[in-house]
Amino acid sequence: MAEKKQNGHYITVDESREIARSNAREIKALQKRRAAFTRDDYVTTMKDPNNIVEFDDLHTYFYTDNGVVKAVNGVSFSIPRGATVGVVGESGCGKSVTSLSLMQLVQGPMGQIVSGSIRFCSTVKTPVGKEPIMENVTDENGNEVTRQAVDHKGKPRFRTIFEEHDEVVDIAKMPLGEMAHIRGSEISMIFQEPMTSLNPVFTIGNQLDEVTLLHVDGADKLLAKEKSLEMLRLVGIAMPEHVYNCYPHELSGGMRQRVMIAMALCCNPKLIIADEPTTALDVTIQAQIFDLLRDVKKKISGSIMLITHDLGVIAEMVDYVVVMYAGRVVEKGTVQEIFKNPMHPYTIGLQKSKPVVGKEVDRLYSIPGNVPNPINMPTCCYFKDRCNMKCNICKGEYPPMVQVSPTHFVSCYLALKERGDNE
Ligand SMILES: Nc1ncnc2c1ncn2[C@@H]1O[C@H](COP(=O)(O)OP(=O)(O)OP(=O)(O)O)[C@@H](O)[C@H]1O
Ligand code: SF4
Ligand SMILES: [Mg+2]
Repeated sequence: MAEKKQNGHYITVDESREIARSNAREIKALQKRRAAFTRDDYVTTMKDPNNIVEFDDLHTYFYTDNGVVKAVNGVSFSIPRGATVGVVGESGCGKSVTSLSLMQLVQGPMGQIVSGSIRFCSTVKTPVGKEPIMENVTDENGNEVTRQAVDHKGKPRFRTIFEEHDEVVDIAKMPLGEMAHIRGSEISMIFQEPMTSLNPVFTIGNQLDEVTLLHVDGADKLLAKEKSLEMLRLVGIAMPEHVYNCYPHELSGGMRQRVMIAMALCCNPKLIIADEPTTALDVTIQAQIFDLLRDVKKKISGSIMLITHDLGVIAEMVDYVVVMYAGRVVEKGTVQEIFKNPMHPYTIGLQKSKPVVGKEVDRLYSIPGNVPNPINMPTCCYFKDRCNMKCNICKGEYPPMVQVSPTHFVSCYLALKERGDNE
């Protein structure tokens, strides 16, 4: 028993009760604090107006029966307007939880945003009037004429006109009700497994229309259908009318993922989060989906947050790279900086473990050791036990984020040494 206790994996009934009590206390306090936030607390300003999203010292924890899992533990990075930012790191390092925090989809009450900010530049729309929807039709004499569109009951159709202005909000402090205006319309998400994200009992058309009906003010069923078909065409679906009436199980994996992308595009989002969007697909379809994402980004002139394990995808797709390890950002920079001049031993290890065409090796390199237990993180560098470049100073506190170029940041004592301000 004593031996088990010493290895840190064993908790007694009393300890378990104490954890449950402490979790309940913390969660209650966080929920109370959150409920007290007012508009003044969450309307804010961007540090750099060229960014669409700024994560600033974000902490998202899970209050589990074994203790507090610090899934995201002080993450800071930005997504510039029109840029693709790749988030990379090994399984469990907090990539998905970071993106779920941005969508306010962290599984509560166990999962909570504990501190930090997620600033997002939102567009507020105020309805100011209506205008007729016009359409081109051929009259009885065969001439093309423009007239006001009518619905299936013969009623004239109108579209709502909006005035728009930007407002920066802190999603970490925003009430859930307000977030519903942003989620799905300004920020949309493409999940890893399209079959579990699509509802098997509704047709594709039904599910696509719902997005427009829910998020586009003043949209009617006809407009929603037009938009759904347009989006299906945009994502390269060959027979959009047919697919519109299909159920998810009638489509291939690649088509389902295209439908998911179409769904994400219905409301012209400013930011698309793609969390491992091609893991469930074969290699050729993966390439097509990435081509499509690139195309789509140009068309909507939005930004993409791309989460992936695949460094090859990162090299081809993204402008900026964020490398995460055990809930923290260990290195971030432009794609050239991360690939040509990786500085953190973990980033260097990741690159060494990538297969290279034409280079014969007996075995692919794998970084030795494991990620520390997320419940009892050390106070020093989290990568220390696996690092082959560690030195005496690494025994100290967690390394600070060191700026090595205007866009390149590394959280490692080696970078401090290189910069010459060691000790
Ligand atoms: N609902 C949950 N309850 C408890 N812990 C969770 C929950 N969701 C995530 N975690 C923990 O948070 C940490 C980060 O998880 P996350 O899903 O963000 O990893 P990831 O980087 O996306 O990994 P992968 O590449 O495998 O998708 C992990 O330690 C995980 O166990
Ligand atoms: S701080 Fe030290 S232990 Fe951590 S990654 Fe850098 S060299 Fe390795
Ligand atoms: Mg994930």
